[in-house]
Amino acid sequence: MPAASPTPIRHYLQFKDFSAEEYAYLFARTELIKSRFKRYEKYVPLVDRTLAMIFEKASTRTRVSFEAGMYQMGGSVVHLTTGDSQLGRSEPIEDTARVISRMVDLVMIRTYEQTKIARFAGHSRVPVINGLTNEYHPCQILADIYTYIEHRGSITGKVVAWVGDGNNMANTWLQAAEVLGFTVHLSTPGGYEVDPVVAGISRTDCVKTFADPLEACRGADLVTTDVWTSMGYEAENEVRRKAFADWCVDAEMMAAAKPDALFMHCLPAHRGEEVEAEVIDGPQSVVWDEAENRMHVQKALMEYLLLGRLG
Ligand code: CP
Ligand code: NVA
Repeated sequence: MPAASPTPIRHYLQFKDFSAEEYAYLFARTELIKSRFKRYEKYVPLVDRTLAMIFEKASTRTRVSFEAGMYQMGGSVVHLTTGDSQLGRSEPIEDTARVISRMVDLVMIRTYEQTKIARFAGHSRVPVINGLTNEYHPCQILADIYTYIEHRGSITGKVVAWVGDGNNMANTWLQAAEVLGFTVHLSTPGGYEVDPVVAGISRTDCVKTFADPLEACRGADLVTTDVWTSMGYEAENEVRRKAFADWCVDAEMMAAAKPDALFMHCLPAHRGEEVEAEVIDGPQSVVWDEAENRMHVQKALMEYLLLGRLG
């Protein structure tokens, strides 16, 4: 029988589900959990806890980081995909949520529409974490901001340049800007703009839009991008390839940013499309730290959702 969660149940479905103060707590816990891991110190607060991971889209980082993280904390993991579960045979998501959440302590879902994960959470007895939807990717931005803090200190007041699609990553950066108080310089090709309603943002002072991606990068503290075609949009591949041709982060864009600007990419990356190899493999890139930090921040997140505040 799963142990009781702190009540009321907290879910992590989008970045704005947590406050700035909660993020400060999570980042402090991440630092502690990561430093213990680096010292090979055993830390097993989640013994006997089980995480169910449901993947309706492909993944490398999200699967490995959640699975390794949960085992390192003493828990165990159940991995489900659409194809090997009754989800692929039209069992309603609400019924799936009712059943799974009677058997496990925590659920991570990667799926298509945000409404689907919201419906699951609405019928779950245990916390639900968004491992990526068409609209948001909060665990990734959690890792990205932690990585920024590790390298440069607080992100508050800084400028993040987003070059590319107005997608789940862009939406989540915008939510983070509102919660944590920084500015996003947003440059997307025409027709691929962020929809503020979908992004779930209410303020205009945290975002500036630029037609020219080079101008978006000017003076930025962090330059970031993502694939031209996200999972689920593959049919648009050829059209997007043409539309996004000028939205490739190159050395000129990095030179327009601050001299100590960082480059991030959630990965997987396509060198020669959204980013030139000399940038992603260059000295300003922190993409490998960013990927590793998925595991450390998510360990802090799972600990928080299951055990509440510690220390
Ligand atoms: N960045 C990220 O979520 O990677 P995966 O798709 O490999 O999980
Ligand atoms: N925007 C990308 C992110 C992949 C981690 C996608 O949704 O496919």
